[in-house]
Amino acid sequence: MTNISITPVTKSRITEVDFDNLGFGKIFSDHMFVADYYDGAWHDYRIVPLEKMSIHPANMALHYGQSIFEGLKASKDKDGTPMLFRPEKNIERLNRSAVRMCMPEFPLEDLLEAMKTLVLMEKEWIPTAVGSSLYLRPFMFATDEYLGVAASTTYRLMILACPSGVYYSKPIKLLAEDHYVRAVKGGVGEAKTAGNYAASLYPAKLAREKGFDQILWLDGIYNKYVQEVGTMNIFFVLKDKVMTPAEDGAILKGVTRNSLMKILKSRGIEVVEKLISIDEVIDEYNKGNLIEIFGAGTAAVVTNVSSMTYKDITISFDESNWELSNNLKNTINQLRNGEIEDTFDFTMRIEETVAI
Ligand SMILES: Cc1ncc(COP(=O)(O)O)c(C=O)c1O
Repeated sequence: MTNISITPVTKSRITEVDFDNLGFGKIFSDHMFVADYYDGAWHDYRIVPLEKMSIHPANMALHYGQSIFEGLKASKDKDGTPMLFRPEKNIERLNRSAVRMCMPEFPLEDLLEAMKTLVLMEKEWIPTAVGSSLYLRPFMFATDEYLGVAASTTYRLMILACPSGVYYSKPIKLLAEDHYVRAVKGGVGEAKTAGNYAASLYPAKLAREKGFDQILWLDGIYNKYVQEVGTMNIFFVLKDKVMTPAEDGAILKGVTRNSLMKILKSRGIEVVEKLISIDEVIDEYNKGNLIEIFGAGTAAVVTNVSSMTYKDITISFDESNWELSNNLKNTINQLRNGEIEDTFDFTMRIEETVAI
């Protein structure tokens, strides 16, 4: 483990923050973690005051999109100890994204230490209201200054920390998109890379203009199999089981998806991962078997779906049926706040032993 050098702010900005109106991803804590990759290794681990940085106009990330990120949450246990939720999962995914995008992996233990040190420094920034948390955004991007299409030889990794509230404050209306696609098998859909999100913006804008909140993406080949929502994986609750699209190389392997499947299985609820066609979803609804649909993601936690539209068919769901999703949402929030015992070993307490 390389040492992390620390330069604290001379004056915290925390008193300027309205913790009752945090929103999501708009407010940044005092410090950030930074590391640079050159000569084939990561160097110069440092936590410094959050500040703007200057970038050369030929920065390769701007031109060719070598840019990946993660999102995870820090919260506080009942006794006020900061905790992270399954951070190794995010680090492993960051490294898988890095491999796919021809970028260097970051040593898992080092990144974990960086997250813990930053969270301990920023522990006063961890909000405690239900559903709120300190959202950590680790990200990596190319830093070579060159206009040829090639993989950069230098990179920067940073971690930002944002005290954040609830991402979706109300249930969402989904549009199953039958023209635009998010990702295809063999592409970069499984990587958490900037371009996937850029590709989603225009179709999402069109969907919003039609009165929908989010797109439910269908597969890129047949335009038929359900994949995921903009920032969430998707679950369908049937009378006798729960189904979610199988990981097919094009959807993001969500940490929340994985956690919810473990929780459901521990309760004896059958969870089926499979190819799910949009016709099957509508068919199950028409047969009266589909009780609810919900999205699952770090930022979104568990988000209720009030309706789903595909071409000229709309299926609607009533609040009185959102029993399982609301229960799962509470379970995740309670695990994050240490209100219930973590029998899954999802949470990692950050004791003060981390050197800061
Ligand atoms: C496209 C996409 N799918 C799914 C998810 C859910 O993944 P996770 O539960 O790891 O946050 C996210 C959020 O990160 C996402 O951006």
